[in-house]
Amino acid sequence: MTYSHPHLLGIEPLAPPEITAILDLADQYADLNRRDVKHADALAGLTQINMFFENSTRTQASFELAGKRLGADVMSMAMQASSIKKGETLIDTALTLNAMHPDLLVVRHPHSGAVDLLSEKVNCAVLNAGDGRHEHPTQALLDALTIRRAKGRLHRLSIAICGDIAHSRVARSNIMLLGKMENRVRLIGPPTLMPSGIEHFGVEVFNNMEEGLKDVDVVMMLRLQRERMDGGFIPSEREYYHRYGLDAEKLSHAKEDAIVMHPGPMNRGVEIDGELADDINRSVIQEQVEMGVAVRMAAMDLLARNLRARRQAKPEVAV
Ligand code: NCD
Repeated sequence: MTYSHPHLLGIEPLAPPEITAILDLADQYADLNRRDVKHADALAGLTQINMFFENSTRTQASFELAGKRLGADVMSMAMQASSIKKGETLIDTALTLNAMHPDLLVVRHPHSGAVDLLSEKVNCAVLNAGDGRHEHPTQALLDALTIRRAKGRLHRLSIAICGDIAHSRVARSNIMLLGKMENRVRLIGPPTLMPSGIEHFGVEVFNNMEEGLKDVDVVMMLRLQRERMDGGFIPSEREYYHRYGLDAEKLSHAKEDAIVMHPGPMNRGVEIDGELADDINRSVIQEQVEMGVAVRMAAMDLLARNLRARRQAKPEVAV
């Protein structure tokens, strides 16, 4: 089985073999990305438009590089300067761009569900680069690839996701992906930063780092997402770091060979100790960034194959 969907909107609809198909192809692109000449032609002739309605550094840069390395014509819209500021709706902007015949649309938006809605209005492949607190599928896939390469497998691992779970689309997508691949997921954080309905997630919840980290294989830290908080979720950053910030002492409760992850951007001294984040024997944060490009290449390649197949089957409908 390979990837069968027209879009990549979330991890939720994916079957485990589809996740594996993306990761296997991404492994090949990771090799390509380490060569001097990094070009392939999987997207040659296709147009990729990136629409980021929220700030982004690594996600936007890696989608742009991924498209360029695969030969697409890539355009990144400066959404701050776009007609959205003049009152145009998301859907009108999408329809306008759609009339220019893009093949791949990469969208990040502050509202949960906005990217799904947009995908119904356009006739190209849509990739969700993060929508509100909902999903961030390529982040979960790049995390999965990083784990698989570091641990040699992506099943029967014990993985702790720590910190601001409630506001995190990274956590949501990871919980789903890691659960589908039959891992044990623990969530660790203060009760105020746990999402409601947590009991339906199939995870174990801890409010104490030392207990939650006991014997885990992977420690995934999250940023305190202040832009999504509208009140006092934590007493102070100092207190938060003391209780939930990852440092060498807290990490010593995990397995000896446990790896440390963070999706970035990091707040050193708030959720993670700066030295630990830079410790190449424990931290795989730079590998996550590297795998980000490879995973986005793989996802766009697979979506483009499906797009071409649909167009061939129904040439009269420009889907
Ligand atoms: C994450 C995001 O935007 O959701 N960052 C990312 O994509 N690398 C996490 C975050 O912003 O904290």
